[in-house]
Amino acid sequence: MTTLDFAPRTRAVYGPGCFEELGRMAKELGFRRCLVVADPGVRDAGHMDRACRLLTDEGIHTFCFSEFDVNPDTHMVDAGRAFAKPHAIDSIIGLGGGSSMDCAKGINFVLTNGGNMKGYWGYGKAAKTMLPMIGVPTTAGTGAEAQSYALISDAETHVKMACGDPKAAFRVALLDPVLCLTAPAFVKATAGYDAISHAVETWVTTKRNPISQAFSREAWRLLERSFERVLSHGGDVEAMGGMLLGSHLAGLAIENSMLGATHACANPLTARYGIPHGVAIALLLRHVVAWNLAGVDGVYSELHRDLPQHLEELRRAAGLPRRLQDAGVQRADIPALAEAAAHQWTGRFNPRPFDAHGAREIYECAW
Ligand SMILES: [Fe+2]
Repeated sequence: MTTLDFAPRTRAVYGPGCFEELGRMAKELGFRRCLVVADPGVRDAGHMDRACRLLTDEGIHTFCFSEFDVNPDTHMVDAGRAFAKPHAIDSIIGLGGGSSMDCAKGINFVLTNGGNMKGYWGYGKAAKTMLPMIGVPTTAGTGAEAQSYALISDAETHVKMACGDPKAAFRVALLDPVLCLTAPAFVKATAGYDAISHAVETWVTTKRNPISQAFSREAWRLLERSFERVLSHGGDVEAMGGMLLGSHLAGLAIENSMLGATHACANPLTARYGIPHGVAIALLLRHVVAWNLAGVDGVYSELHRDLPQHLEELRRAAGLPRRLQDAGVQRADIPALAEAAAHQWTGRFNPRPFDAHGAREIYECAW
């Protein structure tokens, strides 16, 4: 049985100011009619206009789509397809945080392969070729530009569907830390903590392997030493670069190792209470690590000798809420939340076997 199959699919280009290369790279890939998918915040910050200028300078026609929010759902993806179709686009750029990357991938699935997002839930369900894409992150967090999965919520049930295919990977990830400096402080804190959780969770999953662990280890090293600097010195390009590279490597780790119980327990908090993903993660991560310690004690200590305590210090530095009750979670809801967490696909890869009983223990500790 195959236990390891690693094929890098995305060219990563890093450097302060490398966003200027966008037009040239798009031309190199043969882009002529390009859909630019950028969330409203990124559009309002002026990044979308700059992207369009860089592309137009190379003779590329641009069509901009921003009708989606922080949790892209099936309706938003359908709206993106309806917008793109009459323009006969031949390429896509995802510009922004994880939501822009996910939405870009989602539109690519349904535009090229037809049907709706639900048909791509799982992995490898796109039969036809997909359009070439470039990913340009403006926050250091999800590492979605390194992954071939689109996370799209079902607009009716609010269930997050992970829809993946090797063809949905970006051709190029353009990593420019200068672009990330303008993100609001809250976004830097939540996205950064999410990236840290990706390094920590991928490090110990049942799917971990020498390649994913190389990504997790270096992601952790970069993120852990840059996080507090980014929070206290907003204009520190070098620290932002550490966060951006760290989140990209953590994204590669997810691609090769999946995630664990923290993400399984976080998703129901977002679905039920609208708690932002990074906040939900910060509320839970140290408790999941403590809960897992019995099974993988020696493995965590390679990252830090007292990992739960260190994660708590990082949470405090980010000013994120400490307990579930501070974030409005009702204790009476815990059994239902635990039931929902147990059904999350990602919980299957947690190193300590995870079920509704375990989820309840974790939520109780975090409450
Ligand atoms: Fe995450």
